[in-house]
Amino acid sequence: MANLVSSWSKTTQILPENYIFPVDERPGSGEVPLCQNIPLIDLSATRSQTVQEILHASQEFGFFQVIHHGVSEDLIDDTMKVVQEFFNLPDDYKEKLYSIDPTKLPTRSCRLYTSGSSYAYEKIHLWRDNLRHPCHPLDKWVHSWPQEPAKYRDFVGKYSLEVREFSLRMLDLICEGLGLEPGYFGEELTGGQLMSINHYPRCPDPSLTLGLSKHADPNLITVLSQGRVYGLQIFKDGQWLGVEPLHHAFVVNIGQQLQIISNGRLRSAEHRAVTNSTEDRTTIVSFINPSPDTIIEPATSTLDSNAPRFRPFKFKDFLKVYEEKKGDAEAMIEVYKIKP
Ligand code: OGA
Ligand code: NI
Repeated sequence: MANLVSSWSKTTQILPENYIFPVDERPGSGEVPLCQNIPLIDLSATRSQTVQEILHASQEFGFFQVIHHGVSEDLIDDTMKVVQEFFNLPDDYKEKLYSIDPTKLPTRSCRLYTSGSSYAYEKIHLWRDNLRHPCHPLDKWVHSWPQEPAKYRDFVGKYSLEVREFSLRMLDLICEGLGLEPGYFGEELTGGQLMSINHYPRCPDPSLTLGLSKHADPNLITVLSQGRVYGLQIFKDGQWLGVEPLHHAFVVNIGQQLQIISNGRLRSAEHRAVTNSTEDRTTIVSFINPSPDTIIEPATSTLDSNAPRFRPFKFKDFLKVYEEKKGDAEAMIEVYKIKP
């Protein structure tokens, strides 16, 4: 239990050695520029304009932010507050949910853990705690979620439904932009949804450690609320760029499945989370996933005259390989790329 960073770090002035990353992975103390170019999509604009902007953003950056998205600001605030409260609950409550190695607990759907997927085996830990649970369909999963804080299920439940609707709307616009048949992203491709709450406590030395190391998301599409606190960086053209926290905006990120379905037209960009020394940072992440047995392959209408660049696979098999490759995006693409 004492493993959770939120349990022990409040009284610590020194970063423990097993949180210090190798020199070439550390964020360092140099400034990472906030990226002024990450597209900001205003959903109140015309449909054809948003389709165009989203497609451009997904090709260039694999990331964009969305305002006027239709999800109530009060709901976003209430949800953020309740997930922050969760991480401030007494240790003995959190202990009941805590698992040292989430991969060893396949039957436990709601998991609280720290660092990455294998705390027990890794040499260096991430400066984060994570709470994650499936949320679609809501009725099936809500009873496995934390009972405390008292409002957790209510707010996170409402939020997950609204974010799902928003994600499907994004997919619908992307579908149109890619020229796929309407409804392409149906129940099979979007059958799963996972809520992942990241908590990055204040850190004694943010230059030496990471909240999340460089990775690309293995799902279809990700929607992230990062509140007001900075920490998300994307890797573009060999450089790290900061994503400005825009209160109440959603950060949308193309997952690797969407990269493959679009035959590489859309980018699934690598990104990471850095920590800071002044305040805790909590992010609410919703991953839309295909159902486990769904076959993923480039959609024929994205091919034009091009040959498919990826071979078909089952989504659940991709996840297994992802675990083995520790999220290394290039290594993943190599596995599924059709060699000319
Ligand atoms: C993730 C992720 C970034 C953040 O959960 O996959 O990239 O800023 N999170 O928390
Ligand atoms: Ni991510």
